[in-house]
Amino acid sequence: MTQRAHRAAQAECSVLLTGVTGFLGREILCQLLTESNAHVSCLVRARTAAEARNRLIAALDALFGREAARMLQARVSAVRGDVTLPRLGMTPRRREHVLRRTTHVIHSAASVRFDLPLADARRINGGGTVAMLDFAQEAFRRGRLQRMVYVSTAFVSGRHREPFAEDQLDVGQRFRNTYEQSKFEAELVVHARQQTVPTTVVRPSIVIGDSRWGATTTFNVIYWPLRVYADGLLRLAPADPSLPVDVVPVDYVARGTIAALFDGQAGTTYALAAGERASDARVIGALAARAFGVAPPRFVSGVLGGVMVPLVSSALRVGPWRRFGNAARQYLPYFRDGSRFDTRNATGLLGPQGIEPPSTSQLLEPVLEYARSTDFGRDRTAVAARQRDVSRQRRLALTRSLEAQPVG
Ligand SMILES: NC(=O)c1ccc[n+]([C@@H]2O[C@H](COP(=O)([O-])OP(=O)(O)OC[C@H]3O[C@@H](n4cnc5c(N)ncnc54)[C@H](OP(=O)(O)O)[C@@H]3O)[C@@H](O)[C@H]2O)c1
Repeated sequence: MTQRAHRAAQAECSVLLTGVTGFLGREILCQLLTESNAHVSCLVRARTAAEARNRLIAALDALFGREAARMLQARVSAVRGDVTLPRLGMTPRRREHVLRRTTHVIHSAASVRFDLPLADARRINGGGTVAMLDFAQEAFRRGRLQRMVYVSTAFVSGRHREPFAEDQLDVGQRFRNTYEQSKFEAELVVHARQQTVPTTVVRPSIVIGDSRWGATTTFNVIYWPLRVYADGLLRLAPADPSLPVDVVPVDYVARGTIAALFDGQAGTTYALAAGERASDARVIGALAARAFGVAPPRFVSGVLGGVMVPLVSSALRVGPWRRFGNAARQYLPYFRDGSRFDTRNATGLLGPQGIEPPSTSQLLEPVLEYARSTDFGRDRTAVAARQRDVSRQRRLALTRSLEAQPVG
């Protein structure tokens, strides 16, 4: 199919997207609006329909600048809902309306907290996925739904030491936290229901800022150790310098998710990860040291590194360190065991479309610069100025895309 015919076909599509107020969901919305012609219904948590609309308008304004929502009113709408509530918390009439319209579903909403009690993580990540599958199954039974994409995580691999293949899931792995475990369990359910809902799974690795502008809205996971080094709080890294670190930019993950939605195979899993291009802790430490003008971290591995992790963890429970303690305890397990991901399916799908993850050094340059210039999001004036620049660029791309849409 030509690009033009592809986009014309998408104009008949309506995507129900969850997680649009979050880091990845917002970028998926951006790409759906600029790179496809599909209509997008966004499931948003809110007390009232008006509040749901306002939350969507805020997301669109942040993406494309003020008044974007007016420009996009034919393309995007808000649906008040909550994936943990019966029937997604929609009124019967609203649910019926969305069911009749939906041809595709992207389920990105989740709790990405590592420290939730298992029952809570299961309720949101497992129960929420079951509720979305129920909705998709009903739309499929009526002959409308073509595909659901479930956004999982590459870290369903848990502490598995070998490169984790896209067709692997349950290999008896142990998990670092309730997030990994609940996402693993949710994926098991997605596979079990494959006969009744045609689902494609995408597994991003660690998602960081945009590959062009470095922009991000969340400074967690890999940003946490970077910030600790940049602030000069810790010079020792309790890790092997060859620890694999697999990071991908948010725009790559959004593009990969949309390609999986329209062109991927049902029943197939795509690892949206750097894979063989992933770097290691030494390279990342050196790049960060250069960007922040500090000395590179000294790596402490082997037996000493092994005792250092619990020691650092306990030391951070007291005194001035306490506020770092919680984050440290969540992220330190990732210093001990790295994960590697095989990306054969994703490369096969995305390579021919020219969608590929950048090398780590290429990616970290804008990402570290954004972190430095906004002081890891703490300098609100700098954040606002950068956001204005980025939304100007996005708006240009959107305007070009809207002008190129098939008429009629
Ligand atoms: N970030 C990463 O590095 C990474 C890596 C691999 C995979 N992933 C996966 O990518 C997806 C998105 O992650 P993210 O980083 O964008 O997370 P995020 O920024 O925390 O966003 C989470 C989104 O889920 C929504 N949500 C949470 N509970 C909900 C509920 N009960 N009903 C409806 N919506 C709910 C949130 O809405 P509210 O605004 O109402 O809270 C928000 O829009 C997740 O499935 C995650 O597992 C992320």
